[in-house]
Amino acid sequence: MAVIKIHDKYFKPYISAEKLNKYVSFLAKEVENDLDPNEVPIFIGILNGCFMFVSDFVKQFNRPCEVSFVKLASYEGISSTGAVKHLVGINEDLKGRTVIILEDIIDTGNTLTEIYNIFRDKQVKELKIVTLFFKPDVFRKELHIDYIGKSIPDKFIVGYGLDYNGLGRNLTAIYQLKDKKMKNIVLFGPPGAGKGTQADRLKDKFDLIHISTGDVFRYNIKNETELGKLAKTFMDKGDLVPDEVTINMLKEEVNRFPDANGFIFDGFPRTISQAEALDVFLDEKGESISGMVALEVPENLLVARLLERGKTSGRPDDQDESKIRNRFNEYETKTAPLQDYYQKQNKYFGVDGVGSIEEITERLSEVFKAL
Ligand code: IMP
Ligand code: MG
Repeated sequence: MAVIKIHDKYFKPYISAEKLNKYVSFLAKEVENDLDPNEVPIFIGILNGCFMFVSDFVKQFNRPCEVSFVKLASYEGISSTGAVKHLVGINEDLKGRTVIILEDIIDTGNTLTEIYNIFRDKQVKELKIVTLFFKPDVFRKELHIDYIGKSIPDKFIVGYGLDYNGLGRNLTAIYQLKDKKMKNIVLFGPPGAGKGTQADRLKDKFDLIHISTGDVFRYNIKNETELGKLAKTFMDKGDLVPDEVTINMLKEEVNRFPDANGFIFDGFPRTISQAEALDVFLDEKGESISGMVALEVPENLLVARLLERGKTSGRPDDQDESKIRNRFNEYETKTAPLQDYYQKQNKYFGVDGVGSIEEITERLSEVFKAL
């Protein structure tokens, strides 16, 4: 399940259809067990939001019952107006009946107050309140609620009957409003600049997901995913993996973490077309790249560092100075256009990469904090 857009806002998957079904059947069983077996209750749904809930609830209530509706409204957009309007009233004679209210969600409790008012003078035998969702942080009333499917935080939700300005009611799962923007950082640095070490430290410090393109590639190939197999066909021929394949792998990785605070992209994008595709992809989720942060280290220093590493690592490409210089050339040639791309959007941040690991983390953190 991915992030969806309704009108101007973005919503992320929150409660699956399977989970909802469990809450609803649990509620139906509870109500059934508590009722006198000879009692034929009348369920009254509060429209519009309750229609899916009522439908599923009564299907799981395995005894004779009546079903009716009233229509009330207090919401405009994503906040309660305070005033509850009556749109459709009750026609049944409820005298001496067991009335069970089915609410999709109880938020401020304004609607619930109104429900108690409506039924106060109806001489019902018993009035019970069932709500699928309840927001305890907002509820400011002394009113009794008999059954709660699930208590949820004070965040706007849509789906399963609930709407945002009319839309979203037909979604079979519940989605939650995305309120905060992600911190999405493209981390750059030449070979030997300590990018991996820094990414590791920064992801913990800022609670971000580190996406190393190399790791994502290796994972997909090793596990023979569809995309991994596709990428391999190009690599086996000695061809570059097309941007589209790489991007799709990345998208899948990003989509695995809908709740992330953000991502550190490492080894991606490498080309303008990848950068553009990343922008389009993030835009669809109401997100964007916060900045490109590049570690800047003089070439000679890096050559010395890599040669030093080569003595112990045994990596042949770390032992040959001309090969090392060649890797820099490649890095410079590749990143220059990207630097330009992000600079034009005021999103390029160069950070001095000379110093101790701690010092460099500190410098990077200052930039990360501001993004
Ligand atoms: P209350 O009167 O503030 O308790 O709000 C009850 C009504 O507000 C519900 O029946 C819904 O129609 C609407 N509502 C409250 N919270 C949400 C939400 O998170 N998503 C969609 N509708 C909501
Ligand atoms: Mg409602």
